[in-house]
Amino acid sequence: MDGMAAIVLAAGQGTRMKSKISKVLHPLAGWPMIRHVLDAATGAGASRVVVVVGHEAEQVRQALGDAVEYVDQTEQLGTGHAVMQAECLLSAEKDVLVLYGDTPLIQGATLRRLIDLHSEKGADISLLTMIVEDPSGYGRILRRDGKVIAVVEDGQATSGQKAIKEVNAGFYCFRGEWLWQQLPGLEKSKKGEYYLTDLVAIAADEGRKMVALTIDDSAEAMGVNDRVQLAEAESILRWRVRRRLMLSGVTLVEPSSTFIDEGVEVGRDCVVYPGAHIKGKTKIGEDCVIGPNSFIVDSTIGQGCAVFYSIVEQSTLEERVSVGPFSHLRPGAHLATGAHIGNFAEIKNSFVGEDTKMHHFSYLGDATVGSRVNVGAGTITCNFDSETGEKSKTIVEDDVALGSDTMLVAPVKVARGATTGAGSVVTRDIPSDSVALGAPAKVVRKVRKA
Ligand code: UD1
Ligand code: CA
Repeated sequence: MDGMAAIVLAAGQGTRMKSKISKVLHPLAGWPMIRHVLDAATGAGASRVVVVVGHEAEQVRQALGDAVEYVDQTEQLGTGHAVMQAECLLSAEKDVLVLYGDTPLIQGATLRRLIDLHSEKGADISLLTMIVEDPSGYGRILRRDGKVIAVVEDGQATSGQKAIKEVNAGFYCFRGEWLWQQLPGLEKSKKGEYYLTDLVAIAADEGRKMVALTIDDSAEAMGVNDRVQLAEAESILRWRVRRRLMLSGVTLVEPSSTFIDEGVEVGRDCVVYPGAHIKGKTKIGEDCVIGPNSFIVDSTIGQGCAVFYSIVEQSTLEERVSVGPFSHLRPGAHLATGAHIGNFAEIKNSFVGEDTKMHHFSYLGDATVGSRVNVGAGTITCNFDSETGEKSKTIVEDDVALGSDTMLVAPVKVARGATTGAGSVVTRDIPSDSVALGAPAKVVRKVRKA
């Protein structure tokens, strides 16, 4: 059935994380943990998603934005109580999917199987179970004559029950009307919480239609309660991304030491060397070579580029651009096709034109540099006025040759075809096709162009 509404619980404190940050916002493969759950819900066809927030509610709202709806659970009185908060928005829904924000490995296709089975059987309650080696922390599944009769929480289980390895994975479909009717009747546990899982025993007692689907891959439903589990989940998610990219035609020379966030795009025939971190909203075209040891975040890189031992942040590289070793592209760097940035360069908020070369230790900030410019070793834009705190622009037009150690004191413009001598300090605009020298640089002659 398409268009089922989903509730994702994210109000708990996550005490076991021992963190100031809400548990569901801890990053996993570059996304806040809960975003993986939302992605699975959407992948399964959820038409609307209501997130129950409480602890650090504002952080969660900010991280997720308006892609979802929110309800508040001001006191964290348990998972049953949390679901109850969503009734005001979802009371008219025929069925609802309930998920926990701390189970980031779940995949859309698995939820889909649960939803389909729930609809097919016309069940009142459906849940996923799994068999695990170490069931500690999970609710244990009690069965009689093969039928599920209850979920017993870890803290309430007898030693005999604790040995049960079939556990509640924490994913449910409910028939809405039955759910809203039953929730107010839940009894407080010894811990003072209203457990959603108590609905299983109620349904069994009432002889309700129940579906219990046991999933094969228990890793998929793992709950993250502490930082050890966080690291385990991170590793599993990273491998999913690596596998997907390799199967789509990307060479990862040593996959286990290559870190690529969920959502990053890498084109075919790219080769990624160890120590590469590719993060955020990055898109990389075909035939690029990335790394070793590069850090690329929120950037767009065109076909045939090479980034070698360098850092690239919020930058754009058109095609066949090469960067590094040991260069730093800061936010707003835009390198046009064929640009070549060599060793120890820093570029911030600047455009570098086609086939421009900047081979050795230079800094460009707030600059627009034309095509075929040669930026000599040690050239620097002095874009920051420490007295006023203001930044100014530098313009370097096409076919300029900046001599080694040219200081461009902004605002300043070097017009088309001009040349500066080594060590020039440029404080005034330089006209086209001229040679300027000195400190501060003075125009010494005009050159005749062929
Ligand atoms: C829960 C299940 C357990 C299951 C396990 C699967 C209950 C009572 N137990 O246990 O059977 O095996 O998940 O991972 O449901 N939350 C709220 N408000 C609250 C309490 C919790 O929003 O008042 C949220 C938490 O933020 C979290 C989720 O509900 O995202 C689950 O809570 P948690 O305390 O982690 O439950 P578990 O003990 O792991
Ligand atoms: Ca949990």
